[in-house]
Amino acid sequence: MSERSEPGGPAGPQGPGPGDPRDPLVSLSGASYAYEDGPTVLSGLDFAVSEGRALALLGRNGSGKTTLMRLLSGGLRPDTGRLALAGRPVSYDRAGLTRLRTTVQLVVQDPDDQLFAASVGQDVSFGPMNLGLPVPEVRARVDEALAALDIGALADRPTHLLSYGQRKRTAIAGAVAMRPRVLILDEPTAGLDPDGQERLLDTLGRLRESGTTVVMATHDVDLALRWADDAALLTPAGVRTGPVSTMLARPDLLAQAGLRLPWGIAVTTLLRTHGLLTDTDNGPRTPDELAALAGAGAGASTSPGAPGGTG
Ligand SMILES: Nc1ncnc2c1ncn2[C@@H]1O[C@H](COP(=O)(O)OP(=O)(O)OP(=O)(O)O)[C@@H](O)[C@H]1O
Ligand SMILES: [Mg+2]
Repeated sequence: MSERSEPGGPAGPQGPGPGDPRDPLVSLSGASYAYEDGPTVLSGLDFAVSEGRALALLGRNGSGKTTLMRLLSGGLRPDTGRLALAGRPVSYDRAGLTRLRTTVQLVVQDPDDQLFAASVGQDVSFGPMNLGLPVPEVRARVDEALAALDIGALADRPTHLLSYGQRKRTAIAGAVAMRPRVLILDEPTAGLDPDGQERLLDTLGRLRESGTTVVMATHDVDLALRWADDAALLTPAGVRTGPVSTMLARPDLLAQAGLRLPWGIAVTTLLRTHGLLTDTDNGPRTPDELAALAGAGAGASTSPGAPGGTG
């Protein structure tokens, strides 16, 4: 499976040499992985996470999204190929894995697979404590992470008494407390109510503003379109990466990845067909953006605002 970056997409893993500032923050090259007694999930995969680009990872159930995320965060080791941080190969010894975990943090889909300490505060402090940081530094990080996830009031709450959404936030706080440069989230909005999803997107927006690169696996094409800069589609023919509005407008790729056309792309096409939007105007990605566009007078060369979006 090989990656092909679409025009205008992020730089591929080839090109700049090791340590070059243009190197992607995290990259897999020629990576293959098969579970023991299982089928080969990924084969010859090239994949890059570029600093500052919000990346949505999409694909069918069983296409390998979770596997890819675990390879990127060092939980799994590729059978062939290599993982690199800023162009430097990752070594899977203690020092190498510490370097990886202070750069890349994965939040798994089910918070119950991640949380284990008795209280929220203890759980969030586990990672920084494990790094051997001084206690005041650990406290500062925990307070910052709880505040970022809006769960400061839950610090002393037993984790087993939390709601599902609160457990999700606690799991993300635990990763944020490591101050990673790349935060990888496996289906973070699954199981959240609409308000919970919006709050989480706001939180991720603030983390991005503070310099964290965020990668998210999701099945929600509408969310990917409004949230991500780039989309990576896992298809049987390989992973295809490029600007989200280009990737999610391609019926061939969507079909291969088992996805439907996002609402915003369908509406944009309709507006263009009726001459209400020029080919160069940005289309609406949400009903709010459509309303803003209508209010501004569709057909004028104004672009919609980007509430909650960054694309
Ligand atoms: N621990 C495991 N042992 C054996 N096979 C596994 C294991 N975990 C995943 N697989 C298999 O690897 C393939 C890819 O699984 P993966 O969980 O990466 O897919 P996914 O894209 O995340 O799917 P979903 O959308 O359902 O979360 C599937 O065929 C799955 O059955
Ligand atoms: Mg998965």
